[in-house]
Amino acid sequence: MRRLVAVPGLALALAACSAQSRAPESAALPPDPYEIAHLTDTNPDPRVVEVSVAAAPAQIEYLTGKPADVWAYRDAAIAGSKGTIPGPMLVANQGDDVIVHFTNELPESTTLHWHGIRLDNTMDGSTSTQQVVMPGASFDYRFKVKDAGSFWFHPHVRGDVQIERGLYAPLVVRGDESVLDVTAERYLVVDDVKVTSDGRLSTDTDEMDTMMGRQGNVLLVNGKRMGELRVQAGGRERWRIVNAANGRFFKLRLAGHAFTVVGSDGGFVPAPYRTEELLVAPGERYDVTVDLPGAEGTRVALQTVYYDRGHDMPDPGPKPMLDVVYGPRVTRPLAPIPATLGAVAPLPVTPATLARRMELREVDATDGPRFYINDQYWPFNTPLMVKQGDLEIWEIVNTAAMDHPFHIHGMFFQPLDARGQPDLTNGWKDTVNVKQKSTLKLAVRYEALGMWMFHCHILEHAERGMMGDLMIMK
Ligand code: C2O
Ligand code: CU
Repeated sequence: MRRLVAVPGLALALAACSAQSRAPESAALPPDPYEIAHLTDTNPDPRVVEVSVAAAPAQIEYLTGKPADVWAYRDAAIAGSKGTIPGPMLVANQGDDVIVHFTNELPESTTLHWHGIRLDNTMDGSTSTQQVVMPGASFDYRFKVKDAGSFWFHPHVRGDVQIERGLYAPLVVRGDESVLDVTAERYLVVDDVKVTSDGRLSTDTDEMDTMMGRQGNVLLVNGKRMGELRVQAGGRERWRIVNAANGRFFKLRLAGHAFTVVGSDGGFVPAPYRTEELLVAPGERYDVTVDLPGAEGTRVALQTVYYDRGHDMPDPGPKPMLDVVYGPRVTRPLAPIPATLGAVAPLPVTPATLARRMELREVDATDGPRFYINDQYWPFNTPLMVKQGDLEIWEIVNTAAMDHPFHIHGMFFQPLDARGQPDLTNGWKDTVNVKQKSTLKLAVRYEALGMWMFHCHILEHAERGMMGDLMIMK
């Protein structure tokens, strides 16, 4: 256990001040390779978060000593700062006004999309809501963050290329979270990249990549391959998890430990539940607590295990993602996780609620597979016209032999159970996996006016047609 220093009393003192900062109690430990820097808030008003973000070329070593050219977000409030993967985290309190001065330092056009945030349509950052930000140009995003939860931001231009190259970053909106007694809180962004033997990002896109979404040969947590995540024995950590991969489904497991799911896309779940395996589809978030009963000096790997996502993808066996390394004991007792957390009212669907059928199909075209929603493919789709305030059911019929994680911009929805009633297990969702050869129903109430995209979050599928537009009118 190199360089671990136990300072008696410090953990307690830090716990007391962590209510605000949420700094890990292990802050006295060596630098944490999994820590994500926060964007600099340049506005003195405590209710306004004003930051500057640039998308820029950068270099990262996925293989030691062999730098890869990547694209990454950097904190543009700090002159000369370097891009990181993930990009610096945007942190706000529920109800805050957020202002983001964005500059594009890339050689191609891009945008910023605020995945999961309910905001004014003009600020959504999709190509259906704004002109792309040209190289060298800037755009100011302004929105209010209404919901506490774990979100993320990424481009909405050539997502399969731009997100793969490293453009993604966490966004956390804090509500009252003192109900969760934890010794550290982290945001873990899981991803994979396809790296050549000289350490560079592979630019060669094969048929498997377009069919399944590119699965890489290097698994990453917060941009790092197999690092050590140091925890305190007897502690309990809160991990906010997002899957930023183009196509890989992560089914996470920590041998001998369980995850307690406390939140998902739209904040706290109504009733925390335990699971030993946690499936996170591309675009989804899960917020879990993990009890750490192991002994100081022991270690255990966080793994991703096989998940049958379709098309007979072979089972490579469990793959390690990082090592959890047990450090000094936490001495204070931890309060139990409450039995109930989020207040999520079920949407009042009835047999009379209008149901819209959305069929997800894959089609063999001469230039490779193409992905359709109801016989249409983006960008040649006709928007679906709906009325603000209406509650409807989307019946998503997946006829393909593979899963599609389905995402709607700008609003949350509730998946329905077998009886056709809202399944509130994971609270409000904005991304939900629709399993191969199956139908999933969800209930959604149309909220803010404007053109909202919906699509599969396997980025190659989205870019190859599986996107649509929803026009909400008065
Ligand atoms: Cu992560 Cu169109 O979204
Ligand atoms: Cu898909």
